[in-house]
Amino acid sequence: MTQKINLSIRELLGERGHLDYLNKIIIPQIEAFGKEGKISASTLRKIKDAVKQKGVGILSPQLYCLDQITLNTIEEDGFIFDAILPITDNVSIRNIIKKSSGKEDYKRAVENQRKAREALKGTGYENAVPAPVFSNKRERVIVTPYVSGITFKDSLMLNPDEKEKKLKELIDDYAGLFFQLNTPEARKRADFGEAMVDFNDFFIRNYLGRDMKGMEKIVELFGSEIGKDLNSARKSAIHGDFHGKNVISNGGFTYLDWANAASNGFPEFDISKLITKSDVDADLEQRLVEYAASRLYKTPEEQEESVRRFAKNQIVQELLSAWNGKCLVQFCNEKGKKSSFRRSNL
Ligand SMILES: Nc1ncnc2c1ncn2[C@@H]1O[C@H](COP(=O)(O)OP(=O)(O)O)[C@@H](O)[C@H]1O
Ligand SMILES: [Mg+2]
Repeated sequence: MTQKINLSIRELLGERGHLDYLNKIIIPQIEAFGKEGKISASTLRKIKDAVKQKGVGILSPQLYCLDQITLNTIEEDGFIFDAILPITDNVSIRNIIKKSSGKEDYKRAVENQRKAREALKGTGYENAVPAPVFSNKRERVIVTPYVSGITFKDSLMLNPDEKEKKLKELIDDYAGLFFQLNTPEARKRADFGEAMVDFNDFFIRNYLGRDMKGMEKIVELFGSEIGKDLNSARKSAIHGDFHGKNVISNGGFTYLDWANAASNGFPEFDISKLITKSDVDADLEQRLVEYAASRLYKTPEEQEESVRRFAKNQIVQELLSAWNGKCLVQFCNEKGKKSSFRRSNL
């Protein structure tokens, strides 16, 4: 669901950004429609004549407000608009214009989405990540073509009886995506950076806080039972914020929002987030975790290890959310040095 709003794209992006948007996105897309035969040569000529006479401003899209609660729709300094320009009765140009709030690392958001595309080039997943078609660093704006479909979260709510089936389908698809992201060629082509921090440091800093007196035993126990295993598993490229609102369901799946992608993660981190945010009971959770392990790993030993890793990661996430009342994921700051919270309250 979206709501029409009376805001012009010129007001939204400023004079320069608005012209850039029209010249760099809309005009090439109209020309592409001409080439693909989606609009006739005479229509294309009429549009060009009209632009010559009246200026490119006549191609400004109508903006719609996204009716979704996500980081950038709720933060005051961010926004997400659906920008639609009908060209003919059957053809329209539709893009998602997102302004990253200060809470999101804009640079990483843009770079990682491009890197994900790059990593998946030539694989069946190439189009499973929308390519940013435009970015404006000063305005912290990123534009991606609209992907038709509904969010995976909405698809679960529409079909509660099919929850297990749908989650398994997505886990299946994710396993393929994960495999393609982690081939040696993909790793060479694109590197998300070591964004996942040391679990022991993170636990100490964020759970225990400054007052460490008398905590040595807990630190030691956490390290030997949980931190050590999770730290040594940090070697794969992952999405990093894999929940149902970051996936569009449209027959297949499209993966959005790569701002938190990391090259030193493990897939159970992604699966854990998906399952936690999908509101499933303990039995279903167990079946899904085992299913994910069977899709991600070949040998029974690796699969068992995966189930254990899932549980350990889950303990960390639950400890932290109990402490803060929120679900937290741990990532480095922009420079990749210190850990900082990335609060996910979606
Ligand atoms: N390219 C797109 N096509 C369709 N819907 C999109 C697209 N990009 C974002 N959305 C919608 O906007 C929502 C938020 O987008 P996202 O990039 O995840 O922003 P945030 O950082 O605020 O989470 C998504 O859940 C989805 O509903
Ligand atoms: Mg998102």
